[in-house]
Amino acid sequence: MELQTEVAGIRLEHPLMNAAGTCRSLEEVKELSRSASAAVMVGSITVEPRTGNTGDVYWAGPMFSLNSLGLPNRGAPYYRETISEMVAVAHGENKPLFVSVAGFSPEEYANLTELAFGGGADLVEQNLGCPNVWQGSTQKRIACFDPALVTEILHRVEERVGADAKVSVKISPLSDPFALAGLAQVIGASKVAKVVTTVNTFPNAFSYNGAKPRITPGGGFAGFAGPAMKPIGLGQVRQLRELLPDRIQIIGVGGITHGKDIREYRESGAVAVQVATAYLERHEQVFSSLLDELLEVASV
Ligand SMILES: Cc1cc2nc3c(=O)[nH]c(=O)nc-3n(C[C@H](O)[C@H](O)[C@H](O)COP(=O)(O)O)c2cc1C
Repeated sequence: MELQTEVAGIRLEHPLMNAAGTCRSLEEVKELSRSASAAVMVGSITVEPRTGNTGDVYWAGPMFSLNSLGLPNRGAPYYRETISEMVAVAHGENKPLFVSVAGFSPEEYANLTELAFGGGADLVEQNLGCPNVWQGSTQKRIACFDPALVTEILHRVEERVGADAKVSVKISPLSDPFALAGLAQVIGASKVAKVVTTVNTFPNAFSYNGAKPRITPGGGFAGFAGPAMKPIGLGQVRQLRELLPDRIQIIGVGGITHGKDIREYRESGAVAVQVATAYLERHEQVFSSLLDELLEVASV
């Protein structure tokens, strides 16, 4: 089985890497660079440093995970200082370094994208699907549900870094096929978008732990991911492969726990895949286990 792949013209030894939300510091970049991940995804990063939400912010069970981390990260000043070192560490292990950015306005997306490319990042992923950011009792708009906002963000990013930049657009699962087609049209019309990464977490899930919500912030609402997300992720990848122009590639993410899941995402149209929950639960060894299983299922 051919494991080598290519995303936005960047060669990857195999299709598996960590997903955004699992690596924020230079130390974590070092860990991932030593692992069997094909690339290192840093972020999501924001302009201001964020301590993130407090209380119970992550839970994982056998079927699904919930999180409401609230984008904890050290903010633009830290990444302006360290991205070039992160790039050097990842490149030293022959891995590209990708950076996920989360702005609070189109201008912030453009600023963060410029910062990441300025530090030498190989690809920048626009996180348009983060549900867990609250200002008081008001939830931040999830950008991918607003096609006009997506257009504006991609326009600002393209204006700033040029149409040839290697940019991925990460989106939430959209249950309405017409809305998904509308979003695909907007992304397809953008020259700077080379890749769509799907799916981010399903927003505002809720679960009890006895009589109490499992997750503390935001009234217990949380981003849903993990194994139960896989059929949804596969459905989104298959629909988007039909909807997007051929020049836009797809990275599949959601519910990968076994090598056969990678095969299913690839057969559905993804050129590469990412893991968040499985990596958080099983740490670095998850990459080699999944790859061994992928090779096993390929040989039967
Ligand atoms: C604890 C946690 C934090 C996350 N943080 C981010 C983030 O900062 N940016 C982002 O684009 N996605 C974030 N995600 C979403 C994941 O990257 C991924 O899209 C989603 O969890 C589905 O993959 P999984 O089923 O392998 O977990 C986060 C997910 C988890 C579980």
